[in-house]
Amino acid sequence: MAKEFDVVVVGAGPGGYIAAIRAAQLGFSVGCIEKWKNPKGELALGGTCLNVGCIPSKALLASSEEFEKIQHHADQHGISVQGAKIDVAKMLARKDGIVTKMTKGIEFLFRKNKITWLKGNGKFVAKTDAGYQLEVTGDEGSETISGKHVIIATGSKARHLPNIKVDNDLVCDNEGALNFPSVPKKLGVIGAGVIGLELGSVWRRLGAEVTVLEALPAFLGAVDETVAKEAAKLFGKQGLNIQLGVKIGEVKTSKKGVSLAYADKDGKEHTLEVDRLIVSIGRVPNTDDLGLGAIGLGVNERGFIDVDEHCRTKLPNVYAIGDVVRGPMLAHKAEDEGVMVAELIAGQKPHIDYNCIPWVIYTSPEIAWVGKTEQQLKQEGRAYKTGQFPFMANGRALGMGAPEGFVKMLADASTDEILGVHVIGLNASDLIAEAVAAMEFKASSEDIGRVCHPHPSLSEVMREAALAVEKRALNM
Ligand code: FAD
Ligand code: NAI
Repeated sequence: MAKEFDVVVVGAGPGGYIAAIRAAQLGFSVGCIEKWKNPKGELALGGTCLNVGCIPSKALLASSEEFEKIQHHADQHGISVQGAKIDVAKMLARKDGIVTKMTKGIEFLFRKNKITWLKGNGKFVAKTDAGYQLEVTGDEGSETISGKHVIIATGSKARHLPNIKVDNDLVCDNEGALNFPSVPKKLGVIGAGVIGLELGSVWRRLGAEVTVLEALPAFLGAVDETVAKEAAKLFGKQGLNIQLGVKIGEVKTSKKGVSLAYADKDGKEHTLEVDRLIVSIGRVPNTDDLGLGAIGLGVNERGFIDVDEHCRTKLPNVYAIGDVVRGPMLAHKAEDEGVMVAELIAGQKPHIDYNCIPWVIYTSPEIAWVGKTEQQLKQEGRAYKTGQFPFMANGRALGMGAPEGFVKMLADASTDEILGVHVIGLNASDLIAEAVAAMEFKASSEDIGRVCHPHPSLSEVMREAALAVEKRALNM
């Protein structure tokens, strides 16, 4: 007799495991199929985010930032440190320990919520009157299970270039780039997107000479132009060599490293010799071996499963969430879609405002934003007002040795509704949460300007930027 569930979730990344937990909270019987194996060959929950994405990358960011602080900034505080060294093996072991703690934490949450972890690859085999049948194939063999409702949360994998073989040793995607056994003397990065900048910065802080090659002529095209300009200036000062408008040519690997031919923005040919190369040119949705054809579901021309604004596919009771569907490839977006779908199945009326999903780039300083950029508002022909305030004029930022960056707020010219908030500066990832809440509640810039903010704190910069919208910042 096949195991039957009210809800079957395929994939236990942040989309899938959160959907499973919310569905279980709402009283459904839930099975979650997951096949991920860590480098030790152990099955693990948590998907890309916990195993090879958000969590390990932020652990390395923190280690490398500590190293840089001790080497270059302790002196300002009167602290002298000589001979600081980085033990890469220990740093990686710390990161791996955090990953294990987090992935084991989800196993605990599954047991707590009585979610059945179905270990192996999940593949649709049929649609029956009772629901959908899936075959789960793992180390122990195969079993067929069925679900009245199915949530596809199979995530994404790194996109590779056709002429560049990724071996995750010399030429790496995100998986290898989180595990270099030593600091490369010279590191090449293809793609100046989120991963290229975050991981490029990690290895630069640890001592690598980093060259980032980007195909597009503009730096961080999706980011507000004022912020992108500031970021380019700061990253350049830090020593990241970012080349825009390049065309990648032949890549050769040898015992010595990687040799990469490229044409610069003026068409001049160059060869870059590096010890290791990161290829970070975006991600593609995971739908291999999922058996979509067996239930009459396909993918669109970009490989995504088509869904409506509530993550419903064209089939009844089949939903898809997270990186495998349209929208930003972000863990918190996947999580919110997981909650939304579980609540929809329970007959509730949840809704996501996709305009209020924040973005963060965890460089140093961090970049975070929500809502529209100034260039988008111009393109839409919307009348807006701008307020901007620098961290340089904030006592807490100076005390913390972080005067770089600013908060920029965009508000509607007549109603004053906040349309977008852009932060470049220390802890931008935390500061942006206030702007997200404000936008969810359709707040005006005046609302934030009238709210009492703790002093001294970085959050005062958000308030001052709000006041600056009406040209009444107090400390400038
Ligand atoms: P995933 O996390 O990819 O999980 C999908 C799961 O489905 C996987 O475990 C996979 O094994 C499983 N699966 C696939 N097919 C099957 C099948 N047929 N049967 C069984 N199981 C299957 N986002 C942020 O918001 N903040 C960050 O700081 C951040 N940092 C990142 C850093 C890096 C280096 C990378 C690569 C990504 C980062 N992301 C970040 C993006 C984030 O990881 C993804 O948006 C998020 O993981 C998507 O969640 P998901 O649940 O849709 O898919
Ligand atoms: P990305 O889409 O952020 O950046 C890819 C970059 O590569 C782009 O600038 C693109 O123009 C460039 N590119 C594409 N083809 C190229 C080529 N042939 N030659 C040179 N450059 C080329 O993708 P990335 O960095 O791989 O990250 C994937 C996704 O993972 C992100 O879009 C994001 O959704 C998620 N992520 C989120 C993080 C966060 O929230 N902090 C951190 C890391 C990843």
